[in-house]
Amino acid sequence: MIYPKQLAFIAPDFKSELKDELKFLKMNVLQETDTVLWVENDLLEPAWAQGVWRDVKALEITSISDAQTKLKAIAPTWRYYGDQHHRRGELIAEKLDTVLETDKYHFTRGVVKKMPPAFTLVEPNLIFYSHHLTRPSLTGAMPFKEDKKPPSRAYLKLWEALTLLGDWPNKTSQVVDLGSCPGSWTWAMAKLGASVLSIDRSKLDPMLDTFKNVHFQTGDAFSLKPEKKDWVFSDVICYPDKLYEYMKGWIDSGHCSKFVCSIKFAGKHDNEIIQKFRQLPHNRVLHMTHNKNEVTWICHPKIKKSPIDSVV
Ligand SMILES: C[S@@+](CC[C@H](N)C(=O)[O-])C[C@H]1O[C@@H](n2cnc3c(N)ncnc32)[C@H](O)[C@@H]1O
Repeated sequence: MIYPKQLAFIAPDFKSELKDELKFLKMNVLQETDTVLWVENDLLEPAWAQGVWRDVKALEITSISDAQTKLKAIAPTWRYYGDQHHRRGELIAEKLDTVLETDKYHFTRGVVKKMPPAFTLVEPNLIFYSHHLTRPSLTGAMPFKEDKKPPSRAYLKLWEALTLLGDWPNKTSQVVDLGSCPGSWTWAMAKLGASVLSIDRSKLDPMLDTFKNVHFQTGDAFSLKPEKKDWVFSDVICYPDKLYEYMKGWIDSGHCSKFVCSIKFAGKHDNEIIQKFRQLPHNRVLHMTHNKNEVTWICHPKIKKSPIDSVV
């Protein structure tokens, strides 16, 4: 049997996008379960996966106690993902020091950066494990404790992106929110105390009127020329190529180095443009729990290429 080097977790409703992207990236799928694709190589983090276990190792075992001894020799603490052979997997996990999953994330509490490795039982006597999970949870899903006040639920994808980054605007930050209506991203940033330049063709929800740190401009987001800003955010509905050219202008200007932008697809997704964004410096392109038919481009100086990434 050829063992996978990567486990790519399937986001509900986005399996075909993930499979298509893996094909585009020449990352061969060896096998699939209801929740996971076993990928032969581990070139990079595919955007459409819900979460990815990278540099996966296989561990052959002879019994439950043999598994426990072998796992304890690898790491003192583990996370267990129950998929196939769940009962036997649980029996292995029972006598290990394990960390449980977070039910709901709380913005801005952040996430624990260094989480223990994870294992799953794929055959009665075969474990896959990884020290390199790309998101904080085992499967990559990130449910949040929600807030009912903002005018839409779009703030959840902003919270998710900023939590994954472990950085967000504060009272000293100057930020731009492009395509901001009805205003939940603007609300989220205003709540953090940032000075928000919020731009849309339509008007913001009146609930934003109470924030003194929000300056709203009606008009075309793309008419704003790059200027000194701490963060640029965009949730504009537009062609991905247009967003790419515009954001490339910001990067080349040197006026800003932190970006969170939705790349939206009208109908079919576009692997070429995802790859183009991915080739910009210091970034990740991710389909997050709160994204619909879109992915999020997160660009930030602290995002470095993973040492296990291949050159792409
Ligand atoms: C998905 S909504 C944004 C939701 C927003 N992030 C929130 O949290 O409420 C997309 C917005 O992009 C705006 N939009 C589309 N093209 C635009 C353009 N060229 N300039 C400014 N706004 C634009 C639309 O008016 C719409 O309000």
